[in-house]
Amino acid sequence: MSLLEVDAINTFYGEAHALFDVSMRIEPHEVVALLGRNGAGKTTTLKTMMGVMAPKSGAIRFNGAPIGGLPPYKIARLGLQLVPEERRIIGGLTVEENIVLAGLSEPKPWPPQRVYDMFPRLGERRRSRGRELSGGEQQMLAIARALVREPQLILLDEPFEGLAPLIVQDLLGICRRLADEGRTIVIVEQNVEAALSLAQRCYILNNGHVVYEGTPGDLRGDPDFMHRHLGI
Ligand SMILES: Nc1ncnc2c1ncn2[C@@H]1O[C@H](COP(=O)(O)OP(=O)(O)OP(=O)(O)O)[C@@H](O)[C@H]1O
Ligand SMILES: [Mg+2]
Repeated sequence: MSLLEVDAINTFYGEAHALFDVSMRIEPHEVVALLGRNGAGKTTTLKTMMGVMAPKSGAIRFNGAPIGGLPPYKIARLGLQLVPEERRIIGGLTVEENIVLAGLSEPKPWPPQRVYDMFPRLGERRRSRGRELSGGEQQMLAIARALVREPQLILLDEPFEGLAPLIVQDLLGICRRLADEGRTIVIVEQNVEAALSLAQRCYILNNGHVVYEGTPGDLRGDPDFMHRHLGI
């Protein structure tokens, strides 16, 4: 049984049809890259998985149980966490307060020290307010807040966006470590090379349709296709 099964979902913004019969499988312990041009439907796919948007038709199963149409907090309780593009750090709270708050609803959240072991930079910044953090530090905090809930599946929406190359390398290292620990991750990224370097499998969306499913190696073997759908 797959950890997450997305079965022919259709998602709309009002009248606007955004996802067309999108199907995906995420197996335990794999990193899957979800790629595609601007407006392809990547964020909408993650939001539909997380329950932020309800699919109009189709099914989503997590550990075999249907979750399509459940509210995000219930889906979170089942073990899914979305790290949204906008990060949603609470600017008035310190790093440590953001971490503790994220774990409040959990029976066994990570203690802050476990976060600092993984992200030493956040340990150095534990007393700083969210709004005082750099973009890279905010992204680390956003990922840390998801991790303290010990999710079975982490959905990352453009974690490297707007960050300097050196910071991207840092975060890539952290993502690789998460993958090596056997965590299951779906990563959406415009930085295709970074995403493919992490992933065992990838999907490409185009205009709300899945147009590719395969390994990064197979995808790299078709440069014309990559150029057409990813612009690189
Ligand atoms: N709030 C919204 N209201 C109406 N249409 C929307 C809304 N958000 C997204 N869309 C439309 O849904 C489609 C998919 O958008 P989505 O944000 O999922 O794409 P994306 O692949 O994440 O793009 P990007 O790379 O720019 O983040 C696009 O046509 C977009 O214009
Ligand atoms: Mg997006």
